[in-house]
Amino acid sequence: VASVYKRGINYVQIPTTLLSQVDSAIGGKTAVDLDLGKNLVGAFYQPRLVFSEVNFLKSLDMTQLRCGMAEVIKYAVIKDRKLFNFLENKYQQILQKNPVALEKIIYACSRIKAEIVSQDEKEVSGLRSILNFGHTIGHAIEAASGYKGYNHGQAVSLGMLVAVDLSKKLELIDLNSALRIQNLIKLYGLPTRIKGVSVARIIRAHYHDKKFSGKENKFVLTSGIGKPRIVRNIKLDLIKAAFCESI
Ligand SMILES: NC(=O)c1ccc[n+]([C@@H]2O[C@H](COP(=O)([O-])OP(=O)(O)OC[C@H]3O[C@@H](n4cnc5c(N)ncnc54)[C@H](O)[C@@H]3O)[C@@H](O)[C@H]2O)c1
Ligand SMILES: [Zn+2]
Repeated sequence: VASVYKRGINYVQIPTTLLSQVDSAIGGKTAVDLDLGKNLVGAFYQPRLVFSEVNFLKSLDMTQLRCGMAEVIKYAVIKDRKLFNFLENKYQQILQKNPVALEKIIYACSRIKAEIVSQDEKEVSGLRSILNFGHTIGHAIEAASGYKGYNHGQAVSLGMLVAVDLSKKLELIDLNSALRIQNLIKLYGLPTRIKGVSVARIIRAHYHDKKFSGKENKFVLTSGIGKPRIVRNIKLDLIKAAFCESI
């Protein structure tokens, strides 16, 4: 609304979920969903300020906290080995909502997102698209389950597992790094198996994704922790196999 009211007024974001503090409040992507799909009406519109207060998270339920952790794991995998180690070592403190641990995570992710977005605000150079690790498939899972079965963070965690499996199948990533990513997703109690949605439905939803252009598909994969890789035109059979074998 701020982006169109009086042709644009200033706005401030005060995110209160872990997911929004580490990800969606930063970057200026604003949108609302339509019946036809997610985020269909919106604008790139930067806030003047993002104010993240860790104490808000005290009342957040554990499912929502874990969903936020899916985006945190995404940041660690695409850009930050130190954060990845921290997530492995300090999972008890993090899941107990230790404010010092959470603040460290929020700061690390905000810094990465701000850095990426300031270099590629409108997703033209391709840099911003690395933020979509786990999301191409995650969005398809959300859509295929009618936005009811899985919330965003849960769908992204399943998407990351498929992306890791595709990275393994394409021999981009070593088995040990792949295993560490898979284990971290499990450690935070995120879903690792899909229920109630068929692979065919997810693939169909994938091909309807707004980011899918023409006949080419595009996935953000990984060649190791901190090393994202964009891969185009993956064969459908391989995508199907990754789905069936990884989640
Ligand atoms: N624009 C982007 O770049 C971007 C990035 C990631 C995700 N998203 C989108 O963000 C949405 C998810 O955002 P969200 O996780 O903030 O969801 P949300 O706003 O739906 O909040 C989740 C739930 O937590 C409750 N809640 C919020 N703060 C609370 C608090 N402090 N204590 C107790 N309960 C609290 C809410 O009432 C709600 O029930 C998804 O639709 C996702 O697609 C956008
Ligand atoms: Zn997301």
